[in-house]
Amino acid sequence: MGRGSGFGKVILFGEHFVVHGIPGIVSAIDSSTDAEVKKSPTMVIRDERKTAKGYSEEKRLQQIESIERMLKAMDLDPKMPFDIWIGGTLPGFSGLGASAASSVAIARAISEELNLNLSNEKINSVAYEGEKAYAGNPSGIDNTAATYGGVMWFKKNPAGGQDLVEKIHIKRPVEIVIGSTGKVANTKAMVEGVADRKKANPAKYGPLFKQAESLAVAGRKAVEAGDLKKVGDLMNENHRILQEIGVSSKELDLLVDMARKQGAFGAKLTGGGGGGCMVALTPGKELQGKVVSAFKTAGYEFIATKIGVVTY
Ligand code: PMV
Repeated sequence: MGRGSGFGKVILFGEHFVVHGIPGIVSAIDSSTDAEVKKSPTMVIRDERKTAKGYSEEKRLQQIESIERMLKAMDLDPKMPFDIWIGGTLPGFSGLGASAASSVAIARAISEELNLNLSNEKINSVAYEGEKAYAGNPSGIDNTAATYGGVMWFKKNPAGGQDLVEKIHIKRPVEIVIGSTGKVANTKAMVEGVADRKKANPAKYGPLFKQAESLAVAGRKAVEAGDLKKVGDLMNENHRILQEIGVSSKELDLLVDMARKQGAFGAKLTGGGGGGCMVALTPGKELQGKVVSAFKTAGYEFIATKIGVVTY
């Protein structure tokens, strides 16, 4: 049997904009998807992740396509049957890179089962192929975070070359709270929607994309300096431009407001939006606890974790 895992992630700056070559900042979180793979006479997928209602059904066909794409990227028969078990601590909520984490986990498990000895670099590129089934034209930020962990600066293949990926050193791990709207989102549709609106309205979208770039640059400086107040302010700003490009939702805005009211340094949606999750920067156990209590009281699921804790 082959085993593998991949990290979940939150995007601190730049989701959606990264698809179009703007840099973003991502952090892996301390939750992962695990996979176990065995050769089998027929294809069996046993997905035992805790998920938002309807997540598995919504993603089922994309999951099968994703596995076929990955097998092909490993120079294997795309229809090669396996018994695949998927589990782990990362819930199947939209926005946490759950699809990328599962792709990395499955790719690693297949590599082990078939003794392929694939390098992390290869696993990352195989998972990127798998991500295309879920996200259409993904930036690659999710599979990179799922493969390597840590906090990273990511820019999609500048000048058509390789992705620019740089580790960001943070002074100490910082508490965050992830709030889930409980709504499953279709990342592919969200990504396509932004691309269509950008094309249709360059006068509005051009300046917003410029702002997203400045925010990522300023965000990196603030993260590296450990200036968490500044990081929070910039995250709030990032949420505002995500609202303007039409990827937030009523529930996401509500959770963002709720977190800010409890004193979160900053809060924004994370990932594809349109449902899914938000992230609040809540340095210290006490502040984290306040935001957790507010979410609990209001009946929302949450993950209380830290950024900057895990690397592969
Ligand atoms: O919703 P998630 O976890 O799949 O994150 C998507 C992030 C996007 O920036 C919207 C897409 C991408 O490929 O970068």
